[in-house]
Amino acid sequence: GKGAAMVTAVAYRLAAQQAERQRILDTLRLSREQLVEVKTRMSEEMMRGLSKQDHQQASIKMLPTYVRSTPDGTEHGDFLALDLGGSTFRVLLVQIQSGQRQIVDMHQKIYSIPQEIMQGTGEELFNHIVDCISKFLEFMGMRGASLPLGFTFSFPCRQSKLDQGILLKWTKGFKASGCEGQDVVKLLKDAVSRKKEFHLNHVAVVNDTVGTMMACGYEDPKCEVGLIVGTGTNACYMEEMRNIELIEGNEGLMCVNVEWGAFGENGELDDFCTQFDRIVDECSNYPGKQRYEKMISGMYLGEIVRNVLIEFTTRGLLFKGKMSERLKTRGIFETKFLSQIERDRLAMRQIRSILQHLGLTSTTCDDSVVVKEVCSAVAHRAAQLCGAGLAAVVDKIRQDRNLNHLSVTVGVDGTLYKTHPHFSIIMQETLQDLAPQCQVTFHKSEDGSGKGAALITAVACRVKDRGDN
Ligand code: GLC
Repeated sequence: GKGAAMVTAVAYRLAAQQAERQRILDTLRLSREQLVEVKTRMSEEMMRGLSKQDHQQASIKMLPTYVRSTPDGTEHGDFLALDLGGSTFRVLLVQIQSGQRQIVDMHQKIYSIPQEIMQGTGEELFNHIVDCISKFLEFMGMRGASLPLGFTFSFPCRQSKLDQGILLKWTKGFKASGCEGQDVVKLLKDAVSRKKEFHLNHVAVVNDTVGTMMACGYEDPKCEVGLIVGTGTNACYMEEMRNIELIEGNEGLMCVNVEWGAFGENGELDDFCTQFDRIVDECSNYPGKQRYEKMISGMYLGEIVRNVLIEFTTRGLLFKGKMSERLKTRGIFETKFLSQIERDRLAMRQIRSILQHLGLTSTTCDDSVVVKEVCSAVAHRAAQLCGAGLAAVVDKIRQDRNLNHLSVTVGVDGTLYKTHPHFSIIMQETLQDLAPQCQVTFHKSEDGSGKGAALITAVACRVKDRGDN
């Protein structure tokens, strides 16, 4: 009868909607061939970044870090560390005892960087940083103390020695003016001079990937790779000096900061990008930049999800086609929601309450299922892309050493990696598939930016005191 026909019509419409959503989600799925291609292009771009001739044009900068070895256990002393560029800004005091491979003590305090300072002038930013160091010293009862400082500054820096770093460009939402092209050690020291409360003698500039590798290398000598999947994403690894054409010398190794977030700036990822990636890129602080990072890291995944949800809603495939102001608001989907929504045992009701918390009211249970599916597709692709990049890095180490088989440890940090329920597993599966001759162990690191930076600073002081820097 008429009723049955209506039921059929509804069922038909639902099925058609489901098919349409799947068609859109499919654009976010990568085939194995595509992932192999990502790895290949990444390898090529890494070679170009290292080569004198192609470096300028290469999207991946392969920056020398002047860190020539992983820790040997003789490092010791008291150090300050600054951690700028992750989800929080921290000042730390790290005390290392020689021989024991043991951190004696570590104290830290988190300080906020107000939005207006992050987007103000460089002078304001560095004044603020120095104010925080002062407060920290005061808090520790160490006013006026002058300690060597490891500056974990997690942005691309061109270095010609450990205690210098020219900021090439800001990434991850930082915007302070007058810093790009400047030596951040000088900016810091100038601010210290203005404040006139304490002195800074030794400063080492450290990328967070390098700090992470060093902190992990302190316990595991096989750790020769550092990986960050947090607000941004990046990797570093120990490279043969003879392959680093930008600097003199052929002996031994040096850690290279890959700065792989910039991969794709020469169009290498255009084949794999969706309309959502293009929107996220165009609406970001630096359109056209950091394309690989924009497909992987915590700062951007939520934005991709939000744009898919907007598309679904516009097409009447979600939220009964009702667009809300909240959904149109940039940045509502923080990393922690992505991680929460995908927790396996989470009931749909809980997802609904997360959505409600985000201001997305009037949702049905079906909506929750759809939102979870979108989060899952976006995170899955991110983890696979990250695994493909890592495959390029470890396979390069293996080939450089003429090995059939390489066993290596990767030190990892970053909130997305640590809090997402599936990211690390998917990334490792992809890695194993794309670099089958490498056996990779992952080692989570908690204090790369503190402990790692202190270890690097210890080496820097040693070198300087010998006077052969
Ligand atoms: C961005 C920065 C890079 C950093 C990464 C992770 O990609 O450019 O230097 O290592 O974020 O924090």
